[in-house]
Amino acid sequence: MIKKANIPEITQKHLHGIKNLSIEDINKILELSNFFKLKNREKDKNYPILKGRTIINLFFEPSTRTLISFEIAAKRLGADVINMNIEGSSLRKGESLHDTAQTLGAMNPDLVVIRHGIDNASKQISEIINCPVINAGEGINEHPTQALLDAYTIVDNKRSLKNITVAICGDLEHSRVARSNYYLLKKMESNVRFVYPEFFKPKDLNRYDVETYTNLEEGITGTDIVMMLRIQNERITDTNLPSKESYFEEFGLTYEKLKLANPDALVLHPGPINRNVEIEDRLADDLDKSVINEQVENGVAVRMACLSIMVK
Ligand code: CP
Repeated sequence: MIKKANIPEITQKHLHGIKNLSIEDINKILELSNFFKLKNREKDKNYPILKGRTIINLFFEPSTRTLISFEIAAKRLGADVINMNIEGSSLRKGESLHDTAQTLGAMNPDLVVIRHGIDNASKQISEIINCPVINAGEGINEHPTQALLDAYTIVDNKRSLKNITVAICGDLEHSRVARSNYYLLKKMESNVRFVYPEFFKPKDLNRYDVETYTNLEEGITGTDIVMMLRIQNERITDTNLPSKESYFEEFGLTYEKLKLANPDALVLHPGPINRNVEIEDRLADDLDKSVINEQVENGVAVRMACLSIMVK
């Protein structure tokens, strides 16, 4: 049996992104996540401090990890959770995001989690709905809970984020995961590299204070963490991209290429993985090198921490 959680306060009512979180906020979330990770490994995983509260998951884009982990997190905390079925909703009859938010707000939820294709969706609905809103991934802007669970996973294995070198590799142009990780890792004094093929060069690159590489081997040399990104096929309109085979040849992470990173380097990937495109099949499943499953486990704990802090 583990001790009682101390639920801290943070500076933000909403979790729109990592950009607005302080270092203290991040540390408080990671510390509380540790409590929930241990709790989640007990037989009785329930910690019902949100009994009687209502949480709505509003996912306009597909999701497995984020949606299910928010649902599990809410249930383990004792909240009533509703996953809104977008396809079966009045959005399909033409109701706007504004009117949907107003309608849901009238039902007095205690927190809304939103995933959406546009860049400031969570801020937009937080201006309409009178409860905290968590961004569960929006456009190419941010995916803050992914960066928090990635940070938790790194700290769990490497003890600290300070002075470690992290290569974020692949489809930088379309990745909200990369942007949230950039903000978090820079705040925590990690060395951050963006490693991308020319055709995935981020259009807003001048916003980021990073070393850049267009060659994967050079970009991962001497790094502690190799974070591979999914190719976001659903956001790509350019039809002149290389084949999957030639992408893997040039930019896929293999055992051979990973030898260039530090000997104890860890491989992260937010999932879902395009196997043998971004990463060699066997390497993705190699528990000595890859912490992809740990990332998923930690996602539940981090989301329990976020919900328990943010629901008032
Ligand atoms: N990493 C991530 O956001 O995965 P899902 O799309 O499955 O939620």
